[in-house]
Amino acid sequence: MYRNFKIVPNIIFGRGCFSQLDEILALQRKPDPAPMTFVVDDVFKGSDLNNRIPLKDQDLLLWINVDEEPKTTQVDSLTREVQERLGRPPGGVIGIGGGSTLDMAKAVSLMLTNPGSSADYQGWDLIKHPAVYHVGIPTLSGTGAEISRTTVLSGPEKKLGINSDYTLYDQIVLDPELTAGAPPEQRFYTGMDCYIHCVESLEGNFINAFSRSYGEKALDLCREIFLQEDPESDDKLMMASYFGGMSIAYSQVGVCHALCYGLSYVLGTHHGIGNCIVFNTLEEFYPEHVAEFHNMLNKHQIRLPGSLVADVSQDKLDKMIDIALRLDPLWENALGKDWQKIMTRDKIRSLYLRM
Ligand SMILES: NC(=O)c1ccc[n+]([C@@H]2O[C@H](COP(=O)([O-])OP(=O)(O)OC[C@H]3O[C@@H](n4cnc5c(N)ncnc54)[C@H](O)[C@@H]3O)[C@@H](O)[C@H]2O)c1
Ligand SMILES: [Fe+2]
Repeated sequence: MYRNFKIVPNIIFGRGCFSQLDEILALQRKPDPAPMTFVVDDVFKGSDLNNRIPLKDQDLLLWINVDEEPKTTQVDSLTREVQERLGRPPGGVIGIGGGSTLDMAKAVSLMLTNPGSSADYQGWDLIKHPAVYHVGIPTLSGTGAEISRTTVLSGPEKKLGINSDYTLYDQIVLDPELTAGAPPEQRFYTGMDCYIHCVESLEGNFINAFSRSYGEKALDLCREIFLQEDPESDDKLMMASYFGGMSIAYSQVGVCHALCYGLSYVLGTHHGIGNCIVFNTLEEFYPEHVAEFHNMLNKHQIRLPGSLVADVSQDKLDKMIDIALRLDPLWENALGKDWQKIMTRDKIRSLYLRM
């Protein structure tokens, strides 16, 4: 059986295209001008971008802090806030920020039309009703959150996405100018998320011509961006992120992402840097790419933190292993149907203890 999957139907790309957001939203505001809700990374408070948000009188602007990555509790309280302050569903939710903000905006747009807590929907195709119209505007490139059918959330029990066709954005605005101010280290870590998506997709068992076409192109772009000097690198990284996301949409990620989920659930390590810390120990699984990753680290003078797990209690280490082991499709993609014979608890423990 082949998956029949949905993709984002409307995409605008180009330097300065953020200026067309007002025009794009105008189509949604007709005929009854329902208020829009902007969910924006608070790093942009008082910035030039802040002044360019096409806010109308009745609209809501919610600043969100992403020092910690999205949690189901935060999604639920933000959804309640929108409901209480507007008194009716908004005409749209617009997320502006990195992967964390894009995921928050997706989740809020889903929870405005689906009852209960967002934790009830962590899993695959559990969402019952279409989300309100939602627009994603990335200010950091690499996660592919702008194109994916998931929003990754930490819940009371697990770190797992709300995966559904309704999760996908209705519109994305890809303006490479918006990523210009990202701190270089953050840009590197989030960019490596894209690089690792491509490696895990291309090296996995679920690979096919569809995913390979996108994955190879995105991998080449990552090499141009992170191993050469390139004046167009922000534009290229934005497209690499999109292509990397398209590649995994029809294949799967692998060892690095499975271990990273465990690490970040227990220690709160952010996705980009967490993937780098994990990938650094995976020469056994992805030898050529880990060597290439080391060249990228050196070129960008990035020093990864070490000894993250050494002093972690046994309980916490066990929890990390539990979370990682739950991700069957990732392991099967990386290691085949008999993955449990290779990736035992002891094997995972020994990998974590190197981080
Ligand atoms: N939905 C998906 O398919 C998917 C895929 C991969 C990762 N994710 C999620 O994405 C999140 C990670 O996203 P991320 O790596 O993009 O980072 P992020 O959104 O967590 O942001 C990282 C930091 O960069 C800052 N920042 C963002 N844009 C900036 C800019 N232009 N200028 C200055 N600072 C800026 C933020 O304020 C924050 O401090 C995780 O929560 C992860 O789970 C989702
Ligand atoms: Fe990722």
